[in-house]
Amino acid sequence: MRVALLILLGLVIGVLGTSQVMNALAARNPMPKAVMHTMGYHMGELSHALKAKQCDAATIQHHLERLQSTATDIVPVFGIDEKSFTDKAGELQTHLQQAVQAAPADCAALAAVVKPIGETCKSCHQQYR
Ligand code: HEC
Repeated sequence: MRVALLILLGLVIGVLGTSQVMNALAARNPMPKAVMHTMGYHMGELSHALKAKQCDAATIQHHLERLQSTATDIVPVFGIDEKSFTDKAGELQTHLQQAVQAAPADCAALAAVVKPIGETCKSCHQQYR
C-alpha cells in the first residue's frame, strides 16, 4: 500500500513538474505567440464581418489599424534575422499599410484588401511555423 502510494505520488509530482517546465519555457518569451494571436484575433474579426456581410467601415478600419501596428512587432519580437523572414514581415507591413490607406467601406472592398494580407500570413507560416 505504502509503495503504491509512493509510486502514485511520484507520478503526480512528475506530471506537475513537467507542466511547470513547459509553462516556464513558454513564459520565457510569450511575445511571439502573443503578437500572432493578436493578429489572428483581428483577422478573425474581419473574416467574421465578411461572412456575416456586415462590413462597417469604422470597425474594419479599427481592425486593420490594429493589424498594422501589431505587425511592426514581428521582426523585433521573433528575433529571426533571415532575409526571407524579414522580407515576409515587410511584405505584410506593405499590404497592411495599403489596406489602411484604402479604408475599405464595404465587404467587396474589404475582401480585396484582406486577400493579399491572408496570403502573406500563409506564406510565412508555410516556411516558418
Ligand atoms: C514573417 C512571418 C510571419 C507572418 C508574416 C505571419 N506569421 Fe503568424 N506565425 C509565424 C510563426 C513563426 C509562428 C509560430 C510561432 C510559435 O509557434 O512560436 C506563427 C504562428 C501564428 C499563430 C499561432 C500562434 C500559436 O500560439 O501557435 C497565429 C494565430 C498566427 N501566426 C497568425 C498570423 C496572422 C493572422 C498573420 C497575418 C496577418 C500572420 N500570423 C503572419 C510567422 C508569421
